[in-house]
Amino acid sequence: MKKFISVVGARPNFMKAAPLHKALLHNRDRVQHLICHTGQHYDEKMSRIFFEELELPKPDFYLGVGSGTHAEQTAKVLIEFEQVVLQEKPDLVIVYGDVNSTLACSLVASKLGIKIAHVEAGLRSNDRSMPEEINRIVTDVLSDYCFVSEKSGVDNLLHEGVSAQKIFLVGNVMIDSVLHYLPKTEHSAILSVLGLKKDDFILVTIHRPSNVDSKKSLQDILAMLNVLSEKYPVVFPVHPRTKKNINTYGLSEYIANNVLMIEPLGYIDFLALMKYSKLIVTDSGGIQEETTYLNIQCVTTRDNTERPITIEVGTNHLVGTNWGKVQEVSLEILNGMKKNGSIPKLWDGLASERIVDVLLGSLAYR
Ligand code: UD1
Repeated sequence: MKKFISVVGARPNFMKAAPLHKALLHNRDRVQHLICHTGQHYDEKMSRIFFEELELPKPDFYLGVGSGTHAEQTAKVLIEFEQVVLQEKPDLVIVYGDVNSTLACSLVASKLGIKIAHVEAGLRSNDRSMPEEINRIVTDVLSDYCFVSEKSGVDNLLHEGVSAQKIFLVGNVMIDSVLHYLPKTEHSAILSVLGLKKDDFILVTIHRPSNVDSKKSLQDILAMLNVLSEKYPVVFPVHPRTKKNINTYGLSEYIANNVLMIEPLGYIDFLALMKYSKLIVTDSGGIQEETTYLNIQCVTTRDNTERPITIEVGTNHLVGTNWGKVQEVSLEILNGMKKNGSIPKLWDGLASERIVDVLLGSLAYR
């Protein structure tokens, strides 16, 4: 019997770990799968609701690290996760995406000689001012299995000298979750709760420090949303960081009536809103992929993306952080200048099955 520990910490990890957990449960006679939640995100709406909706079990370990500077948060995870690994002696640690918990737990595992699988490996924005880029690079260097969601990830890893034998193009586990839970959106009441009609609103998420940590930028964003809301209602589930800054900078009075500022949503309600929106404006990583799969137009308010396939074949428009330009492109799309997208290769709901095949096939003989 093999023992794997998956590490999740922040919101974007949960929908990646859930399908792999399900696939591993089908092999419970061969592998015990434990889940460690670092507690990087800890609010009911940033964490607990996802465990319930994604049918993840209560974590076997909860490290409770909470918020802090990057060094504080990473250091707390290092100290706490080392104890878990020393106690459990797993055969493999599985880490997801690019958050601080991903980096910290990879470091712990590698120093203790434990094999590491990185799910969503190889993505690169080539922008080291993003904390996530540092996390991705270090995690990939330490990983024994790099599970990649799009071809650019393979190219990046090869370019950085990672051995081809460690690289597996398996598709996108986050899309496994989208496919699995899409039918449940039929039961979501979110449209009626918010008084919205299908294909008649704009969905917005903005939380990146580079966008919301300065008063000027946040003010420009709100002014832009006010203009868009003259065309269609704007729904904005607000991340805790963005909310805190709106309050600190005293900007709540700038928000127009047709901009609905709401609490962060759970997975099913948010999926329903994505599916029925006319346009999404976001600085998220994962939403670029989900919108491509759902064939919804996405304006990405960042200067680069680590997910270029969403631009090459999907519905993503990489616009940058000039908010006048974001407004202009958004209005053009609303006026009909849409991109015709298609679904990237291997984004078919079977990525986690492929990962399990690789892992069990290879670890069985060790
Ligand atoms: C983290 C990830 C980012 C991901 C995002 C999704 C890193 C470096 N960044 O950024 O890649 O896109 O999660 O949300 O790991 N807070 C709460 N409640 C919570 C969690 C956070 O109130 O449950 C507040 C705290 O004030 C905290 C701030 O949000 O200081 C930021 O949280 P943090 O985990 O540091 O990073 P995110 O900005 O969420």
